[in-house]
Amino acid sequence: MVSKVMGIGLTGLEGYAVEIETDMRRSETDIIEIVGLPDTAVREAKNRIKTALSNSGFHLPDVGITINLAPANIKKEGSGFDLPMLLGILSAAEKIPPLSAKSVFLGEISLSGAVRPCSGVLASVITAKNLGFEEIFVPEENIAEARVIQGIAVYGVSSLSRLVRHIRGEERISAEISTMEAIVQAQETVEDFSYVVGQAGGKRACEIAAAGGHNLLLIGPPGTGKSMLAKCLPSILPDMSFDEIIESSKIYSVAGKLSPKRPLITTRPFVKANQGISAAGLAGGGASPSPGLISLAHNGVLFLDEMPEFPVRILEMLRQPMEDANITISRVKKTLTYPASFMLVCAMNPCPCGNFGHPSLKCTCRPGQVSKYIGRISGPLLDRIDIQVELPPVPVSDLKNRAPAETSAEIKKRVNKARQMQKERFAGTGCSFNGRMSRPLIEKCAMTPGARRTLESLFEKNALSMRAYDRIIKVARTIADLAEREVIEEEHIAEAGFFRSLDKKYWNKF
Ligand SMILES: Nc1ncnc2c1ncn2[C@@H]1O[C@H](COP(=O)(O)OP(=O)(O)OP(=O)(O)O)[C@@H](O)[C@H]1O
Ligand SMILES: [Mg+2]
Ligand SMILES: [Zn+2]
Repeated sequence: MVSKVMGIGLTGLEGYAVEIETDMRRSETDIIEIVGLPDTAVREAKNRIKTALSNSGFHLPDVGITINLAPANIKKEGSGFDLPMLLGILSAAEKIPPLSAKSVFLGEISLSGAVRPCSGVLASVITAKNLGFEEIFVPEENIAEARVIQGIAVYGVSSLSRLVRHIRGEERISAEISTMEAIVQAQETVEDFSYVVGQAGGKRACEIAAAGGHNLLLIGPPGTGKSMLAKCLPSILPDMSFDEIIESSKIYSVAGKLSPKRPLITTRPFVKANQGISAAGLAGGGASPSPGLISLAHNGVLFLDEMPEFPVRILEMLRQPMEDANITISRVKKTLTYPASFMLVCAMNPCPCGNFGHPSLKCTCRPGQVSKYIGRISGPLLDRIDIQVELPPVPVSDLKNRAPAETSAEIKKRVNKARQMQKERFAGTGCSFNGRMSRPLIEKCAMTPGARRTLESLFEKNALSMRAYDRIIKVARTIADLAEREVIEEEHIAEAGFFRSLDKKYWNKF
């Protein structure tokens, strides 16, 4: 007899329905054959299937089994097909009744017959719902990420035998109720801007960057608070929208990085890259390509501390995704695209000894050394960094009379308000914040004649690139939003231009 059971396959974040057809016939030898482009993990299921079945109380001696995964032209990846394949066998052997074509199953099976968690559950549930399935069975441990999706009944399954009792109507598993509120966790306690002494310029730069989603470079001598400021950033990043939460959680789900403790990404990711990171680790890749750090940083921050210490090859890889907000990974037969709209935040010393440009300490580097160090950040990469700010040494007087500084919560209120203004302005355009404005949207930014003149003189005086010109407008738009102004004024352009003056000071010096 032939049975049919539905499963879900994933290519990147996108899913598709997989029909699992199982054919069973009498045979002298126990043979299981899996056809329809299974990958290694799916093929290995063969070895688990018989043991899991017998440990769940089902004995199928002397049968030959052929399992076909359709459509046959797409490679089936991962271990999520264990469960539907086992059900297909049980159904073909008439141990359970035929399964509804509106039900879909997902899960890895251990030798004991327990259902183990698998990656990509959130993306699979979204796919199942969009394809019109009415119910989905997922590993119990993945239930928290699965149940945020409304419009499909979600069941958590702990073992094959438990699921069989449900299917036979002996002991029902109850459907999970969709809850978003239960899962949205309070923001973890992070560093707070109120502990940072002085550095008003650095704090202001962080606020603007967070409000408009702009890239940020912090530069200065050792111990002035560059790393500290960057670590404070998560405390003022704007709240995530529901769509952003689902989008980011899908990426983490596919990367296998959600857990019962953290079933959804509800606060903007802050991802710190290590200097030893590989190209695949950064951009994504591997046998069944997993999202890289730039995609894990989607909707959040990618932080490079000590930027010039990164291999130039790795730094240059950031250029394309910074422009396109996504990354395409090429594979043997197909290409795969993951979202990668991140804010790049970098910190660095201006030279190997750290004191180049220091008001009182002497730089002990040879001139050639300084330009080589700083030159690791190429012109095109620097051009993409909208806000560049210098963190000078904190004067002793500031340390002595510490005025109570503003808390992150107060700054975040302004950031959220500015983001809200952007969302309303861009409604229906597909863009949601200033940092991602396209050319036509930039053209539409209203500006006073004075602001226009200031911009033109900046452009001529500093020989700015067209990209830098656009980026100054984007930052000025955010500065105007923070000031709750609909029209960009001269002072907004001037401040935005000031945040681009460091490339002159450090990069064009030699
Ligand atoms: N502006 C500041 N306000 C309060 N504490 C500060 C400030 N700057 C530095 N510190 C203190 O000094 C420590 C080192 O600062 P941080 O690591 O941010 O320096 P950095 O600028 O990143 O230096 P490096 O160039 O060596 O990486 C911080 O953990 C903090 O305790
Ligand atoms: Mg540091
Ligand atoms: Zn130096």
